[in-house]
Amino acid sequence: RFIVLLGPPGAGKGTQAQVLAEKTGLAHISSGDIFRENLKNQTELGKLAQGYMNRGELVPDDVTIAMIRERLSRPDCKNGAILDGFPRTPAQAEALSAMLKELDGKVVSVPYISVPAEVLIERLSGRWTCRTCGKVYHSVYNPPKKAGVCDDDGGELYQREDDQPATVEKRIKVYLEQTSPLIEHYRQAGLLVEIDGTQPIEEVTRQLLEAIA
Ligand code: AP5
Ligand code: ZN
Repeated sequence: RFIVLLGPPGAGKGTQAQVLAEKTGLAHISSGDIFRENLKNQTELGKLAQGYMNRGELVPDDVTIAMIRERLSRPDCKNGAILDGFPRTPAQAEALSAMLKELDGKVVSVPYISVPAEVLIERLSGRWTCRTCGKVYHSVYNPPKKAGVCDDDGGELYQREDDQPATVEKRIKVYLEQTSPLIEHYRQAGLLVEIDGTQPIEEVTRQLLEAIA
């Protein structure tokens, strides 16, 4: 049982994927988190991804697909996973369906969290992320109990390098050009469920749980 979360940068994929994973017991696979983890540890993969990420461009398909293939092969994915940030291109979507065939799994639902561009910039400029666990907060819409500190593990909160307005604009452009064709792809496959991502976080969660039930 694999669920693909689609939506522009800042739509709330990471916020929601974390809750959905807790509530369903499925693994949470965030391609962006895996890249950031590699960057922090200065692995070869991290060094390769760094330039693309800082420019707001996509990391090349072959590298990204190999990384996700390895992640999907781990035991915690045997019942399925919530995919957050992958696939992001038609080639990645094709690779995903081939990989899942091998694992005897399939995509059962593709919630598309839609949010207009003007809202995205405000969301990303107020986002704070935990250095330890990757949990995301917003200074206005979802503040931590104590400023600068993660509720769950006391980790330090930081602002992502790629959340500066110019890079956000680039990421939105890349999303429109390379990722948005997947909306039609999954609609035609009968898997797409569109959800209004401008609603409060809890309401989006409620509708997502309904969509994947
Ligand atoms: P990635 O980390 O995946 O970034 P993204 O897709 O741009 O998504 P974000 O993490 O920015 O946003 P989100 O939708 O998760 O929103 P969030 O929940 O945080 O990718 C980063 C980079 O890695 C890419 O640019 C690329 O270089 C590379 N990469 C990753 N995957 C790749 C792939 N498959 N192929 C190639 N390259 C890849 O929410 C945002 C903010 O809004 C938060 O502050 C949150 O608290 C707040 N918020 C959330 N929901 C609401 C709500 N309903 N109301 C009010 N505020 C809300
Ligand atoms: Zn944390």
